[in-house]
Amino acid sequence: MIVPGKSMGSLDKAVELIRAGELVGLPTETVYGLGANAMDDQAVAKIYALKGRPIDHPLIVHVYSKDEVGYFSNQLPTFAHHLMGSLWPGPLTLILHKREGIARACTADLQTIAIRCPKHEVAQTLLKECKQVGIWGLAAPSANRFGRVSPTTAVHVQEEFGESLFVLDGGACEVGIESTIVDCTRGRPIVLRPGILTLEELSICAKVPVITERDLMESSSLVEQVDSQAPQASGTLDSHYAPRALVRLLTQAQIKQRLTHESTHSLKLGLWSQPLELLKNANFPIYWLEIPSTPKECAKVLFAQLRAFDGLGVDEIWVQSPKNSPEWAGINDRLLRAAHTGTEHR
Ligand code: TXA
Ligand code: MG
Repeated sequence: MIVPGKSMGSLDKAVELIRAGELVGLPTETVYGLGANAMDDQAVAKIYALKGRPIDHPLIVHVYSKDEVGYFSNQLPTFAHHLMGSLWPGPLTLILHKREGIARACTADLQTIAIRCPKHEVAQTLLKECKQVGIWGLAAPSANRFGRVSPTTAVHVQEEFGESLFVLDGGACEVGIESTIVDCTRGRPIVLRPGILTLEELSICAKVPVITERDLMESSSLVEQVDSQAPQASGTLDSHYAPRALVRLLTQAQIKQRLTHESTHSLKLGLWSQPLELLKNANFPIYWLEIPSTPKECAKVLFAQLRAFDGLGVDEIWVQSPKNSPEWAGINDRLLRAAHTGTEHR
């Protein structure tokens, strides 16, 4: 059931459900989440069951503000304080050392915990209301079935889980791809999942250079500076964010070349690219939409676009590869995973 997220009646009902150990769909500025009381292991188990998510894939705990972080972790490096101070509320998740024994189910019993403070007004109000009744955080993965495309509208959430789930409608998500995850447990801040924030922005806010796992692979001196125990993020599986149609990431030249091939003409094709002269003369049906030219605009519509192509029943979705530059890292990451074939998620 989709309800208006800003109405106090809806929010009260959501809090009541969460207190009763039930699940609620909620908007954040990145993507919609499937929320439950992070301290209620049985409620958290329902998230895993509904998503079909393996129980060793930990969830993110959402908090109202940085004041609640101490409840979950009491070991924060200075750079984590800086990151929270500048980028929260916002699309940033921090991996921190966990306080002993807390939020077991939602952290897959790891020694670390992922915490994020979302900016969306509805999420903020819900978290504030929850805090007032002693619920310090909401475990909330993206509200999609495991391995599928993340939802950026309330209707997407309902498409995933049906009418029975209570979903707070907060409109279309502003960011559109999931939060940037920064591991703060290994002495240096390390990006585990790129999002809309660039390394440059993150480094300025952290007041130390923020590095990637690739940097670590490529530099032995960096490896020596970090704690070797690497937490794994489930979003780093090769195949994720997969629509039903086959996704191909292609250069403009490859698109042009393929469009001239006879074998393509029997396909129902979705094409997300810059305008192409060639399309005017195509003698077979193509659903074409222009890919936005800036990372922010592109991220905002990326998942909705993949879902829309699926809705049209296309066989293949061809996406013109964005630039391989740092500000496109989050988008390229999602596109590469969406395009990955040959694993159990397809
Ligand atoms: O933007 C977002 O982050 C959205 C919204 C709803 O907040 N949430 C989201 O959650 O993307 P989910 O469950 O789809 O992704 C959570 C990611 C997974 O890749 C998981 O492995 C990682 O966070 N994660 C959680 N706890 C972790 C930990 N202790 N160490 C390493 N990675 C962790
Ligand atoms: Mg997810």
